[in-house]
Amino acid sequence: MQILLINGPNLNMLGKREPEVYGHTTLLDIEKRLNQIASAKGVNLSSFQSNAEHVLIDKIHSSSPHTDGIIINPAAFTHTSVALRDALLSVHTPFIEVHLSNIHQRESFRHHSYLADIAIGTIVGLGASGYEYALDAIIKHLQQQ
Ligand code: DQA
Repeated sequence: MQILLINGPNLNMLGKREPEVYGHTTLLDIEKRLNQIASAKGVNLSSFQSNAEHVLIDKIHSSSPHTDGIIINPAAFTHTSVALRDALLSVHTPFIEVHLSNIHQRESFRHHSYLADIAIGTIVGLGASGYEYALDAIIKHLQQQ
């Protein structure tokens, strides 16, 4: 089983970026933790982060033949990107959407996601642990197929 973890813009700044909103855990911490859990479960996990919309889209396309499931925090592109939605629709790879913060408790422009209705599920507001729950959920989803 091959899982791809994708993080969008500004998530490379986790740990330094608005820690009162996003916590003190860095993206590297999250990626290491997920790798540990994945390898303990015999699952292959690769991680990718970009600040550029087209780079994320290219990654989704190129990963498709060898990726069974995606965990994605699209960050600000959640609320703006029809292109990211279309990229995910074009590959048919099942995915789980993660947000560290509870986007529904924040500014109204963060309440809408262009991806939520085509995701297997979404996990919001549970901080870095949300990624671990997403890994568990995508593995269970793929095992049931
Ligand atoms: C975020 C929420 C988004 O609204 C924001 O633009 C981010 C991070 C989160 O993980 O809580 O960059 O996706």
